[in-house]
Amino acid sequence: MTDAVSATLPSPSGDSSRQPILEARNLVKTFGKVVGLDGVSLALYPGEVLAIIGDNGAGKSTLIKCLTGAEVPDQGELLLEGRPVSFKRPQDARQAGIETVYQNLAVSPALDVAANLFLGREERRKGILGSVFRVVDTKGMRQKARAELAELGISTLQDVTVPVENLSGGQRQAVAVARAAAFGSKVVVLDEPTAALGVRESKQVLELVKNLRTRGIPVILISHNMPHVFEVADRIHIQRLGKCATTITPQSHTMTEAVAIMTGAQTA
Ligand SMILES: Nc1ncnc2c1ncn2[C@@H]1O[C@H](COP(=O)(O)OP(=O)(O)OP(=O)(O)O)[C@@H](O)[C@H]1O
Ligand SMILES: [Mg+2]
Repeated sequence: MTDAVSATLPSPSGDSSRQPILEARNLVKTFGKVVGLDGVSLALYPGEVLAIIGDNGAGKSTLIKCLTGAEVPDQGELLLEGRPVSFKRPQDARQAGIETVYQNLAVSPALDVAANLFLGREERRKGILGSVFRVVDTKGMRQKARAELAELGISTLQDVTVPVENLSGGQRQAVAVARAAAFGSKVVVLDEPTAALGVRESKQVLELVKNLRTRGIPVILISHNMPHVFEVADRIHIQRLGKCATTITPQSHTMTEAVAIMTGAQTA
């Protein structure tokens, strides 16, 4: 299937009139002579988990970077809720409601869980203490942090006053995902969230992804782990040599077929 055909696939519900929350049309990104993205289109619909898979160098990270303001595409269009947007920096995408958890995790180890959740968005105390003396509302932020973690079903983080450096890898990942989900975000993008995690911790993160979907926040998930992808994804975008080879679902294809398309052993 060509990229043009996959771009016109109906939405997951079969209702082709449903508007994507985030849409990319024909993105091109070159690095000198290297073509990172060669006309890639993608649509993320409300309430879905869209996985992006592909071999090393297929353009997954470049695609994500173009969606999240970390790279500016040479050509192509980006639409958020049907409106054209252009992100020059990651902050632009973040302000528009696209939260990204990069593989190297943007958490601050020395700060506690609550402080990490509010990093860069600290809430001030009411009245003159906050407005003039800029005193942060630690108690209020901790209360909100507890409520947010409970709502996301993160039960392994009982104490929001623990420094993040004392947490396990899975718990840290949970903090990063919770942070991304906590602030009225429209889209959450996760780059290899289970790559460094054990079986139990991976399971927690996958549960979290499902919880985000339940809360109506669509997720883009990059992963090399086929069982994880097939467990949580509603649709799977397969990147190959800078293009979208095709978009499949866990129902339409087996893991073996997905890998075959990814490596070029099978054409889509
Ligand atoms: N900043 C850059 N400068 C030069 N070339 C780049 C740059 N970023 C990416 N590329 C090239 O673009 C292509 C796509 O790279 P990208 O990082 O998107 O692949 P990927 O699918 O994320 O691979 P991996 O699975 O190894 O992370 C590769 O050929 C890569 O070498
Ligand atoms: Mg990559």
